[in-house]
Amino acid sequence: MEQTEDTIAAEKNQTVKSNFGRKRKAWVIVGVVCGLLFVGGLVGGLIYYYTSQANKSNSPPSTADPPSTDYSGNTTIMLDPRYTRSFWGMDYTPRGSQMDLGCTVTQDDVIEDLKILYQLTPRIRLYGMDCAQADLVLNGLNRLGIDMGVVLTLWVDDNQTTYQRQYDTFWKVTDTYGFDRLTGVSIGNEAIFRKQATVDNLVSKMDQMRSALADKGQTHIPVYTTEINDLDKLLPHEDALMDNVHPFFGGTTAETAANWTWKYYYEVDQYPTIQYAKTNNIQIPAVISEIGWPSFPPNGSVQGAIPGIPQLQRFMDDYVCEANRRGLPYYWFEFKDEPWKQWMFNETRESYWGLFDENRQLKNVSLPNCPMDVWTKGDLAVPQPLPLTTTH
Ligand SMILES: *[C@@H]1O[C@H](CO)[C@@H](O)[C@H](O)[C@H]1NC(C)=O
Ligand SMILES: *[C@@H]1O[C@H](CO)[C@@H](O)[C@H](O)[C@H]1NC(C)=O
Ligand SMILES: *[C@@H]1O[C@H](CO)[C@@H](O)[C@H](O)[C@H]1NC(C)=O
Ligand SMILES: *[C@@H]1O[C@H](CO)[C@@H](O)[C@H](O)[C@H]1NC(C)=O
Ligand SMILES: *[C@@H]1O[C@H](CO)[C@@H](O)[C@H](O)[C@H]1NC(C)=O
Ligand SMILES: *[C@@H]1O[C@H](CO)[C@@H](O)[C@H](O)[C@H]1NC(C)=O
Repeated sequence: MEQTEDTIAAEKNQTVKSNFGRKRKAWVIVGVVCGLLFVGGLVGGLIYYYTSQANKSNSPPSTADPPSTDYSGNTTIMLDPRYTRSFWGMDYTPRGSQMDLGCTVTQDDVIEDLKILYQLTPRIRLYGMDCAQADLVLNGLNRLGIDMGVVLTLWVDDNQTTYQRQYDTFWKVTDTYGFDRLTGVSIGNEAIFRKQATVDNLVSKMDQMRSALADKGQTHIPVYTTEINDLDKLLPHEDALMDNVHPFFGGTTAETAANWTWKYYYEVDQYPTIQYAKTNNIQIPAVISEIGWPSFPPNGSVQGAIPGIPQLQRFMDDYVCEANRRGLPYYWFEFKDEPWKQWMFNETRESYWGLFDENRQLKNVSLPNCPMDVWTKGDLAVPQPLPLTTTH
C-alpha cells in the first residue's frame, strides 16, 4: 500500500465535505481501500495493550457544589507568536474538574486556558459534565467574546447515577448557554473498552439523547460515543465515528507514527464508514477523537514508542499539517498535562500528553504552523478525506 503525492493531491482536490446529523448525504467515493489484515494485527496488539492498563482518560464522579462562574481577571487575549491556529481540534480537561478530587476548577483558570486554546485550534472536546466544566467553558467563551466549537461528553461509567448527573447538567447548561457552540454530544468515552457499558446500553442512551435534542428542535447536533472497541456495531447508531487513535500504544516509533496513523485511520475508521455508506447510502464522518504523544517518562516505552519531547515534536511535525492538508479531522490529545491521573490511576504516561505542562507553560516544542480559520457558529462541517488508494 503506497500513498503517492499524486493520490494525496487527488484526495485533497476531491475532499468530500460532509455535514453531520440527520440530513445525511450519499457518499462520494473514489479509490480503492486495501484489506484489513494489516490493521487486524495492530489493533489486536493495541487492544491487548490497553487492556493491560488500568484506566484511561478518566473523569470520575462525585458530588460537589459547582464552582462559581465569577471571573476576577481581564479578558484581553494577548496573541503569542509561538501559537498559530493549526490544530483541527483539541482535547481539553480543565484543571480540577474531577469530582472525586473536590472540584477545584475555577473560572479564572479556564479563561486563561481558553485564551491560549483559541490561538491553537477552532474546536475543543471535553470529557465530562462534572464540576461545571461545560458552564465554565461556555461562560468563558462568552466573557472573552469568542467562538469555538465545543464537543460535550456525558461521562459513562458503571454507575447509572453518574450518567444521570451528566445528563441533568447537560440540559441545565444548554438552558443557560443554548446550543450555538455545540458541535457534538458524546455519550461516554471508552466506556465499552473499560467494560463499564455494553453496545446496547450506549445505543439506547444515544437514541434517547437524539430524540431529546429533537424535542428541542436541535436535530442538527451530532450524537455519538467515543470508543476504540466495537466501532462497527456502534457505527449504524452514530452521527459520526469517533475513535481514539494512539500510535504510541501501537508501539510504533515516533518517526513512523504518522504513517502508522494514516493507515490506521483509513483502514479502521474510514473503511467501515465507507462500507456502511455503500450498504445504507448514508454518510457519516470518521473523526479521530484523540491523537498525540506522551513526553514522559522516558522509561515508559511501548516497544519502539518512547515518551519524550523530541518524539512529541517529531510526530507533531509529521502529522498535524499533513492531516490538515489531507482534510482528516482530529482532536489533538491534549492541551495540558494532567498529573492527577498518575496517582489516581497509577499510570504516569497518561499524565504527560500535554503540549503545555499543568501550569500552562509550553513544553520545549515548536508548534505547527498551518493556520486555519476561526470557528463560526453553525459550522458543523467535518472534512472527510478520500480513502487511501493503492498505486500499483
Ligand atoms: C453510584 O454513585 C453514587 C453517587 O456518587 C453513589 O452514592 C453510589 O454509592 C454509587 N453506587 C455504586 C453502586 O457504586
Ligand atoms: C490581561 O491578562 C494578560 C494575561 O492573560 C496579561 O498579559 C495582560 O497584561 C493583562 N492586561 C491587563 C490590562 O491587565
Ligand atoms: C511514510 O510513508 C511514505 C509513503 O509510503 C514513505 O515515502 C515514507 O518514507 C514513510 N516514512 C517513514 C518515516 O517511514
Ligand atoms: C521509571 O523510572 C522511575 C524513576 O524515574 C521509576 O520510579 C519507575 O518505577 C520506572 N518505571 C518502570 C516501568 O521501570
Ligand atoms: C502500579 O503500576 C506498576 C507498573 O505499571 C505496577 O508494578 C504496580 O504494581 C502498580 N501499583 C498498584 C498499586 O496498582
Ligand atoms: C529545547 O529543544 C532543543 C531542540 O529542539 C534543544 O536544543 C534545547 O536544548 C532544548 N531546551 C531545553 C531547555 O531543554
